Amino acid sequence: MSPRALLAALALAAASCADTERLAPLAARGALLAADARVTRSQYNSFSCLTCHAVSRAAQGQRVLPGAPLTGAARRPTFWGGEVTHLREAVERCWTGFMRGVPADLDGPDGQSLGAWLDSLAPEGSTEGTAAVTTTWPRVVRDPGEGGDRARAQAVWSRACATCHGAIETAAGRISPLASVLPRDTIVEHCDDDLAAVGYTDRQAYIRAIVTEKTRHGSFLGYAGVMPPFSTEALSDGDMRDLAAFFRCP
Ligand code: HEC
Ligand code: HEC
Repeated sequence: MSPRALLAALALAAASCADTERLAPLAARGALLAADARVTRSQYNSFSCLTCHAVSRAAQGQRVLPGAPLTGAARRPTFWGGEVTHLREAVERCWTGFMRGVPADLDGPDGQSLGAWLDSLAPEGSTEGTAAVTTTWPRVVRDPGEGGDRARAQAVWSRACATCHGAIETAAGRISPLASVLPRDTIVEHCDDDLAAVGYTDRQAYIRAIVTEKTRHGSFLGYAGVMPPFSTEALSDGDMRDLAAFFRCP
């Protein structure tokens, strides 16, 4: 048997009989890949699975992450807030949408190692994390209103946005040059927009709506890019209002 066929056979075995011992080396390799941005082989990707997901609820701590903890995920009945019913499809959304990977690579050895790792996080008899995760993404996003608290926003920023965007204002420590310098880039791009054309009269309300839209929808719903969407469960409306206080037109 070729190494590739052997891996494929092992991965199938994972699905059917959970031969944990035999699959342990594959799962160990998957654990390394989950922390490695090179896994999708795209020169434009700088995210690993663990940029957006914690391994477990406990490991997440105070961090605000767009993706749900992965322990138990392999045995959840549905994914992506009920939009997806297959694990493979749930992962493919991340792989292609955020990490610029090609779907076929998920069928190769790396994808199979990741699958074995996800399986190993949901061992027989354990129920941790196996219930469907509730996630809601509002379709229509509005200005969260003024009154956001900048001191609180600083804390929310560190927990939710700094991993990718680095420090607020300077972007020091950002994950890649592709992650915008905030709030500057949004102010430069949108503060001169024609308000009447977009149905706004208040410029500050408009810029708050822009940042909220990007944060809630990421690269979905017509937006380009690779930023993940933050559901209202991951990031509360109150936290969103605080963050929006950083974005003010001159
Ligand atoms: C840029 C951020 C990001 C990256 C990188 C990412 N994901 Fe996700 N992932 C998300 C978001 C957002 C969701 C949808 C919210 C949710 O359901 O967790 C999601 C959903 C999932 C789900 C479904 C969870 C559930 O219960 O609904 C799985 C499983 C998953 N991702 C696995 C992975 C794996 C494995 C990788 C690495 C190959 C990865 N993700 C990379 C952001 C990301
Ligand atoms: C997983 C990485 C990641 C995280 C976490 C993240 N972003 Fe982003 N964000 C990006 C990238 C990359 C871009 C560049 C455009 C794109 O690819 O979508 C971006 C773009 C943006 C933009 C658009 C900037 C412009 O040019 O107008 C806004 C606004 C924004 N992010 C806000 C936030 C806020 C607020 C948070 C925290 C709640 C956050 N982002 C968390 C990766 C991330």
